[in-house]
Amino acid sequence: MKTQIFKINDTTQKEDIKAVAQIIRDGGLAAIPTETVYGLAANALDPDAVNSIFGAKGRPNDNPLIVHISEIDEIYPLVTSFPDKAKALAEAFWPGPLTIILPKSDIVPKEVCPRLETVAVRMPSHPIARAIIKQAGVPLAAPSANSSGLPSPTKAQHVIDDMNGKIQAIVDGGESSVGVESTVITLATEVPMLLRPGGITPEQIESVIGPIEINPAVLEELPKGAVAASPGMKYKHYSPEAQVYIIKGEFPSFKCYVETNKRDGDYALCFSGEENKFTINAVSYGKENCPEEQAHNLFSLLRELDAKGAKRIFVRRPDPHGVGLAVYNRLIRAAAFRVIEMPLIYGLTGQTGAGKTTVANELLKKGWQVIDCDLVARKVVEKGSPVLPELTAAFGEEILLPDGSLDRKSLAQKAFSTEEGRKKLNSITHPAITKQVSQQIINEKDKFPVFVVDAALLSKSELYHYCSKVIVVVAKEDVRLKRIIKRDSITPEQAITRIKAQPDEQYYRSVADVVVENNGDEIDLSDIS
Ligand code: TXA
Ligand code: MG
Repeated sequence: MKTQIFKINDTTQKEDIKAVAQIIRDGGLAAIPTETVYGLAANALDPDAVNSIFGAKGRPNDNPLIVHISEIDEIYPLVTSFPDKAKALAEAFWPGPLTIILPKSDIVPKEVCPRLETVAVRMPSHPIARAIIKQAGVPLAAPSANSSGLPSPTKAQHVIDDMNGKIQAIVDGGESSVGVESTVITLATEVPMLLRPGGITPEQIESVIGPIEINPAVLEELPKGAVAASPGMKYKHYSPEAQVYIIKGEFPSFKCYVETNKRDGDYALCFSGEENKFTINAVSYGKENCPEEQAHNLFSLLRELDAKGAKRIFVRRPDPHGVGLAVYNRLIRAAAFRVIEMPLIYGLTGQTGAGKTTVANELLKKGWQVIDCDLVARKVVEKGSPVLPELTAAFGEEILLPDGSLDRKSLAQKAFSTEEGRKKLNSITHPAITKQVSQQIINEKDKFPVFVVDAALLSKSELYHYCSKVIVVVAKEDVRLKRIIKRDSITPEQAITRIKAQPDEQYYRSVADVVVENNGDEIDLSDIS
């Protein structure tokens, strides 16, 4: 079939609108723009035309369709009652992204709402959509104009990609403004129930009709075999080809997760301003606190990432409130309900002798996990680790003991004698330490709410970027001197040399979110939560 493309910029293009309306009146299918997503429209009163929608989309034929009207009064023939609450919602939000479900009348063919006694009705606000409905003179049954299972189309090109050759016409009316499908609410139940969140929020609805219920399937996977209040909710939905994973947690924890797991073909879908903070490809889907922007971009970006060949997409979890509820609802389905919860990660650092360990022990008492990077640093150079051959390649076989294990003294002599040597050593060990620490966090993520990464050189390491908060422990210089002389059985001169080798206190304070004084008296951790 040859699909005719109509570019319609506004409702003054009467001839084009008439031509599209005629195609629909003749039993054909036309994709039309709406403010939510593009719809695949047919005459709702023509059972054959309605049936062909299911064929073109590859849609399961028990999934009912929404009937679109151009004026509120056009609802009367479609329903057996139009209760006050429904009227109030229609007056408040029509035309607009709200679908209302009511008991259906006999003129609605069973093909529109298979096996149901109800019909879903919506009056879109898009002027071209309304002009076409009006011109057609019949209500239009219209699901989203995507192939079943794929993300809904928000641009004409998306419809062309999915539907070209399968339907009579596609109207290109520009980008959909909302970007996710309408809010669906049923008033056919005793208490009104939200079946699908969208551009009109539960709060907006409640402000007009009072308390509503939210169907559990909005935020959770339906148990196997459960009957869906809205049949559409039981199907896999909005899914790009790539595997989508939602990561719940603050940005640094998100970064820890994706950087540690990264593979070729991975993308991060993040919030504005975060795109440049990854070593993998990253795209923003909107500002963190602007769900409207996220909704507008989401489907289009999922399609774009597929076109780029993305294999996995790691998504920053949106705040599921207001329009964010709709964004989250679509994302969990795109992700087949894969939501990974990352713990908080804090850094703990300070000069030698400042008493980090005492603070670390206090934090352990909160039920947090502390990872001592000194221990990890020793582990990553153990015999058999992949780091050891890299070290011998850089510093020579002399750094090994006869049994093949690392001679730490010899390595220290070689590496710390020059600045270049120190850099080389760090460039080999730091990535291995980072990997080991972040892998431990991910492995144990469900066991602890907070991980504390204890590292003297934290701010010079990649791990620093995984920390939501940096705790710096400070102590007076004489206190620190005494401590390290005692702890390491060294001379005062050696102790001073060690202290001098580290950045000064000023530097540590400059990277701190919280400073803890530890001069041996009671320590105050009240700022750390
Ligand atoms: O924004 C929208 O609503 C878009 C545009 C084109 O208007 N349309 C749309 O239609 O999203 P569709 O078919 O992709 O989604 C309709 C949803 C499905 O989940 C379906 O199961 C549900 O509404 N639905 C339709 N009639 C229903 C009914 N009588 N009872 C319960 N759920 C119903
Ligand atoms: Mg759909």
